Order: sequence, then structure tokens, then C-alpha cells
Amino acid sequence: MEIKKITKIGEKEDVVILIHSEKDLSLYGFSKEELAYLKEEIKKDNKQISINRYSYSILVAFLPAKKVDYKVKEEARKAGCNIINSLNKKKINAVSLLSKSEAIAYFIEGMILTNYQFLKYKSDKKTNSLNTIKVVDGISKEEIEELVAITTATNYARNLVNEPLSFLNAVQFSEEIKSLGKEAGFKVEVLNKSKIESLKMGGLLAVNKGSIDPPTFSIMEWKPKNAKNKKPLVLVGKGIVYDTGGLSLKPTPNSMDLMKSDMGGAAAVIGALYAIAKNNLPVHVIGLIPATDNRPGGNAYAPGDVITMHNQKTVEVLNTDAEGRLILADALSYANKYQPELIIDAATLTGAAARAIGYYGVVAMGNANEKDMKKLKASGENVYERIVEFPFWDEYGALIKSDIADLKNVGGAAGGAITAGKFLEHFTDYPYIHLDIAGPAFMDKQVDYIPKGGSGVGVRLFYNYVKNY
Ligand code: BES
Ligand code: ZN
Ligand code: ZN
Repeated sequence: MEIKKITKIGEKEDVVILIHSEKDLSLYGFSKEELAYLKEEIKKDNKQISINRYSYSILVAFLPAKKVDYKVKEEARKAGCNIINSLNKKKINAVSLLSKSEAIAYFIEGMILTNYQFLKYKSDKKTNSLNTIKVVDGISKEEIEELVAITTATNYARNLVNEPLSFLNAVQFSEEIKSLGKEAGFKVEVLNKSKIESLKMGGLLAVNKGSIDPPTFSIMEWKPKNAKNKKPLVLVGKGIVYDTGGLSLKPTPNSMDLMKSDMGGAAAVIGALYAIAKNNLPVHVIGLIPATDNRPGGNAYAPGDVITMHNQKTVEVLNTDAEGRLILADALSYANKYQPELIIDAATLTGAAARAIGYYGVVAMGNANEKDMKKLKASGENVYERIVEFPFWDEYGALIKSDIADLKNVGGAAGGAITAGKFLEHFTDYPYIHLDIAGPAFMDKQVDYIPKGGSGVGVRLFYNYVKNY
């Protein structure tokens, strides 16, 4: 979709007008009859009003608001979602947008994010009609560029999640990362299996044992000359390109159906680096993506195995379906070499997190200082990927002590999302926040501007956090 800044709208063009109050209507040259009709509809609490002028139409989006707080921003995204659905229904290709509202950016964001389609595998590509938004006022050229980069990044993340294993194995995944690095201008280094072996990443290698495809470990770096931070922020994403559960096979009939989305955390980190680099944010950020599928092949790792991790700690594997924490542990341990200011990981880590809060938020926990968690929560509100903090008490750590090794990889059903986080904490020496996105990463139905399938959750959250760093 193209967003163009124009100075004046042409005659007889389809127009969308975003207003906050009845008073705003006087700015747009409506006839007496039209004004009377609009006011009547607003009284009826109609949020989207259509004026037909024969060869073109005017859609008025009414967004009652005094102050544009985070809830109004979200209402604006939803209003944008409703408008673009109407425009597509009317088969309109291009529309001019008029508004004096400071919510206009969020309104456009909702439009773009709603217009996303994943058509790669459809023979009949029924593309949405709307492909151009022309904006007259309320937003600068730079703000438009920023918005386009963020929404493009979110849509790339959605694509990656929607791609099945038949296309996106770990090697192909690293190729996609390289190509996005080239496009956005961040550096990418991909470690292959022999390099991963020489680094003794025992977690990633164990999970990969049942696979016929090799693992990869991708390192992304955005290091601008004007970086505000001396020590980097490291983002780590779980890159399980498919999770069968391994020998602890996921039960049929359908618990495997959406497991192509088990790299949703990686997609969030990749999308974030894309948007950060494209928009030249002055922050040094590193992204780490350990990637493999998790399968029950002939050589697969087995429940009871003891493995030695990148940081030399030993882990008794009691469930091969708790694989995410094993590959993340190696990445977290690798991250220590950067002496980071803060490490945040994103992972579709536990069914427990999804069961606890469903689709509508992100589970967070960690040992970083309160200020960092607070900032992340504020970003969560800004982008409406809200964060709920779980406890991270030491008592949970006792549940993953092993009889024969340093740790075991499962802690039982109670507090399952937290014991997973506590497991990861053993591998990092720096302030740490863990995000479990198992709930919101993959949608089983469309919710407003978030499509069915890959949601792209985390991209806008990380971007906003880094922007306010
Ligand atoms: N990828 C899954 C978690 C998951 C479940 C993500 C549902 C999205 C939707 C993860 O690898 C897993 O299988 N976790 C197990 C851990 C358990 C064996 C301790 C789980 O949550 O059941
Ligand atoms: Zn699993
Ligand atoms: Zn998994």
C-alpha cells in the first residue's frame, strides 16, 4: 500500500474525513442537507457515516475524543480498520484522507495493518482494491515514512509466521533474515551447524537432532554512529520453525496445527530490527535468532537425556516438547559476550501463558530493574500490545532442580510459564526480561486490524520501546 502526501485533493475524488466532534464538520464544505444528515447520524452514535455524491463518496469517521490517550489511539486504529473494510467493499482503489486530528497516524496504521493479505499460495489472488492513501494534513512526510516502515515490518513478521515449514526451514529462515537485513540496512551474520557445534550450543543441537535439516543461528546488528547507548540492547527470538513436540509428540488431533508459528518470537525480533534500521533509531541493538525444527527423527533427543549447554550447565531433558527454552538458553548465554545493558527475549514458549491470558496481551517477567519493565509496559499501552507482569520469585526456581543434572527442562503444570522463565534466567548474566507471546502470536480469527494467522505481535512493541530508549 502506498501512502502519499499531497497538498490539495482533486475534484470528485473519494474522500475519508476523520473528526472528533460535530464542530469539526464545518471545516469541510458540506451542504446544509449533508450537515443536517451528518449531525443526525452522529446523534445516533454512528461512528462511520457515508455521504454519496454520485461519482464519488465521502466517508466520515467519527472518533469522539477530548485527549488522545492510549485508548483513543486504539479506537483510531479500529476506526481505520472499519473504514478500509468499507473502502474495499466499495472496490475503491485510492482515497484522500482529511483530518486535523493528532490521532491520524493511528488511524492510518489501522488501515494499513487491516489491509494485510497472505496470498502467496492462492492461485486466485483476490487482492484488496484499496492501494493508495493520499494524506493532506495532520501528519508530516517523516511521520508517514516511519509509519510505513513499522507497518511493513509488522507485515513481514506476519508473512514469516504464516509461511509453512515446507518453505521456511531454519536455513531458509536465515536467508530471509539476510534479505531483510539488506533491505533495511542492518548487519546479518549466520552461523551454520559446524560453527554452532564449535560453540558447543548443546541446547540448539539437541533439539535439532531429530531433524533432517541443519540448525542456524542468526546474528543481526544495528549499530548507528550516533547510538545513545554504550552497551547494546540484545533481543532474542525463539526460532522453532516447526514444533511437533519431538519424541514427546504433541497429541493429535490438532495441537500441531499452528506450530509453524513457533518462530513468532523470532519474527518479532526480525521485524523490530527492520523497523529500527529503516527509521535510523539512534540505539545499538543486537538480535539473536536460534532456529531449528523440533522433530521425532531416528536420532532425536529423548526424554531422560542429559545435555550440556553453551554456558557449560547441564540439563536433564524430561520433555522434548519444552524445546524453546533449550535453544533460547544457548542464545541468552551467547548474548553475555556483548555485556548488554538489557536482554529481552520473545517466545511462543508455553501453553500455560496462552491459557492464562489468551490473545489479548503479552506475558512478561524478569529481573531487570523496575524502570525498564515500566517503560516496556508503557510501550505495550502505546501500541496496544498490553503487558501483564507475572511473578518471578525464587521459589519457582526450585521446581526445575534436577536429581542428576544442574537443571531439568520442565517444572510441572503449576506456574508453567514462570518456571520456563526461571529456567532461562540461569543462562543470562545481565538484566533480563522474558516475554511469552504464545497467546497473541497466532490468531484463530481476525480481531479488528489483527488478521487471522500470524499477528506480528512484538514488532511494534519493541520498536516503540527502542524509540523511547
Ligand atoms: N511451542 C510450544 C508452546 C505453545 C503452545 C505455543 C501453544 C503456542 C501455542 C512449546 O514448545 C511447548 O510445547 N511447551 C510445552 C511445555 C511443557 C512441555 C512444559 C507446553 O506449554 O505445553
Ligand atoms: Zn514444544
Ligand atoms: Zn515450541
